[in-house]
Amino acid sequence: MLRTLYGRLAVLLMTVFIAIGAMMILASQKMVETHRLLELATDLIIGTVVFSLVAALIVFRFLTVRLRMLSESIEAFRASGFTTPVPLELPGNLDDEICRLSAAFQEMSERIAMQLRQLEDVDRQRRELLANVSHDLRTPLASMQGYLETLLIKSEELSSEERNRYLQVAVKHCERLGKLVQDLFELTKLEAHEVSPHIEVFPIAELAQDVVQKFALKAQKRRLALVTTCEPDCPPVRADIGMIERVLENLIENAMRYTPEGGEIGVEVRRAGTRVELRVRDTGRGIDGEELHNIFDRYYRVDRAEFGATGNAGLGLAITRRIVELHGGDIQVQSTPGLGTTFIVDFAVA
Ligand SMILES: Nc1ncnc2c1ncn2[C@@H]1O[C@H](COP(=O)(O)OP(=O)(O)O)[C@@H](O)[C@H]1O
Ligand SMILES: [Mg+2]
Repeated sequence: MLRTLYGRLAVLLMTVFIAIGAMMILASQKMVETHRLLELATDLIIGTVVFSLVAALIVFRFLTVRLRMLSESIEAFRASGFTTPVPLELPGNLDDEICRLSAAFQEMSERIAMQLRQLEDVDRQRRELLANVSHDLRTPLASMQGYLETLLIKSEELSSEERNRYLQVAVKHCERLGKLVQDLFELTKLEAHEVSPHIEVFPIAELAQDVVQKFALKAQKRRLALVTTCEPDCPPVRADIGMIERVLENLIENAMRYTPEGGEIGVEVRRAGTRVELRVRDTGRGIDGEELHNIFDRYYRVDRAEFGATGNAGLGLAITRRIVELHGGDIQVQSTPGLGTTFIVDFAVA
């Protein structure tokens, strides 16, 4: 009973009434002994009224001070646009309803502020994504339109080589557009949890060798050494083959793109405790320490102008990270500017 505020008030009032009752009994005894009936009765009434008033005022103040503090804190939270919870230190440090109410309010306001921040973050990301997407769609579209219009208008004056070249450029921009839309579509599906990995047990070393093979000709053309190192007794992994192929392709493609002629790209698969580690390393331009945290963000490119020249929108690593996360794995990057970069992905052993 003493744990609630009302319980404590009831006990307090009970004590007051018992005290008044005892005083009345004593007073009536004296009243009989001394015959000062009227005087004592008046004293008693005045005393009781004063005592009740003081007790009521103390209880009232005790209640209202803390309620006022709570309501001021709520008001301040509202005035801050529900963004900054106002810390509330109630006097008395009691464990009653008002204290519990303020604790609940504090927790609620912190949660509201956190969710508001998250909503603002999502909104900002959405706006940025929209701006980036429209910019990246417009660039190849405008080029394509330009070349095709020129072909239409000047078709009589152009030589067949020129016509061919114009068409080739238009096709290249068309391919870029196709790749961008495909990447966007894939990332959106991955982020919306619309795809789930089709888990199989397979030897990742063999897959790595197959994917590297696909890049062999391109590496040769660009005079890049492409080396695969697989531990012979590397255990199989449990993963979605298609998705892991995509991860490998993204990492090798990047390594090749950012490594100058004469460089080396290594793909390594080895056991690391209960995990299998896949490493893609290059001797390319490397990534600055400040950029390292951002490269997995969608649409992040160290050099924003790259899209115009290469058609790479900065979605590859975002897709890669999402796929690795879907497999309960982890992706890390180590890089030294000017010396090279290594991406390390780890998977559970089957
Ligand atoms: N191996 C690498 N060496 C140097 N920079 C890299 C490497 N891989 C990725 N990056 C940087 O990270 C950015 C994001 O990569 P990614 O998401 O694959 O986008 P994209 O390849 O479309 O540019 C790239 O623009 C590039 O600046
Ligand atoms: Mg890429």
